[in-house]
Amino acid sequence: MKGVILAGGRGSRLHLLTRVTNKHLLPVYDRPMICYPVQCMALAGITEVLLVAGGNNAGDFIRLLGNGREYGLRELSYIYQPEAGGIAQALSLAEHFAAGSPLMLILGDNILERSLAGARQRYEAQGGGARILLSQVQNPSAYGVAELDEHGRVMRIHEKPAQPPGNWAVTGVYFYDHQVFDMIRSLVPSARNELEITDVNNAYLARGQLMAEKINGYWADAGENIDFYLRACNLVAQRGANLDSSQ
Ligand code: G1P
Repeated sequence: MKGVILAGGRGSRLHLLTRVTNKHLLPVYDRPMICYPVQCMALAGITEVLLVAGGNNAGDFIRLLGNGREYGLRELSYIYQPEAGGIAQALSLAEHFAAGSPLMLILGDNILERSLAGARQRYEAQGGGARILLSQVQNPSAYGVAELDEHGRVMRIHEKPAQPPGNWAVTGVYFYDHQVFDMIRSLVPSARNELEITDVNNAYLARGQLMAEKINGYWADAGENIDFYLRACNLVAQRGANLDSSQ
């Protein structure tokens, strides 16, 4: 399995902090934000990783991360995303890199308390398709929200719903097989003019190929807004991150 980390976007929700640097280079406790998803990949045993960089100061990622060896990766590659066009559009840039392999995708501003080694194993055991990770939140309207039936199965995912059908947010960690790139090609831009990862997930769901699991430990979306950025810094300082206990 290979890994893709997305670190593009304008960072407008963390303006003024992002006027002169990239959101994913801002400090979260004792290191730049992007170090957490990189470490998360290494801990899940995924050592061939592509970083999709965009926005301000994209070159600084190379200064910080180099070839990835220092962070436990075997090979870290980079690709530049010239314009923000949504998560699915950014992922489409990884098709050549993936070369048919399954992928673990992590958004560069997502920080998890625990290792994803267990989730990776469960994805591999499911034999293809997609797998998403859910976390309970108090502000579901800011996220993709999973509508669950009485058995906890996903019925549909709603992107930033005004009236959320629950509070299980879709976190920024996803597992996909090679079908994902054909699915992205068939997407149409959403109202915010982005190719939505939620549309990809609903396409897998329609094929009966989407599995979901609820994560243990905290999930922090450090890029959501300034309060969530502060929350992420505090959680990392108090509880640590990427703890090496499989969930
Ligand atoms: C994106 C996805 C959303 C997901 C969130 C996780 O939101 O569109 O479904 O819940 O990441 O961080 P965005 O960061 O584009 O607002």
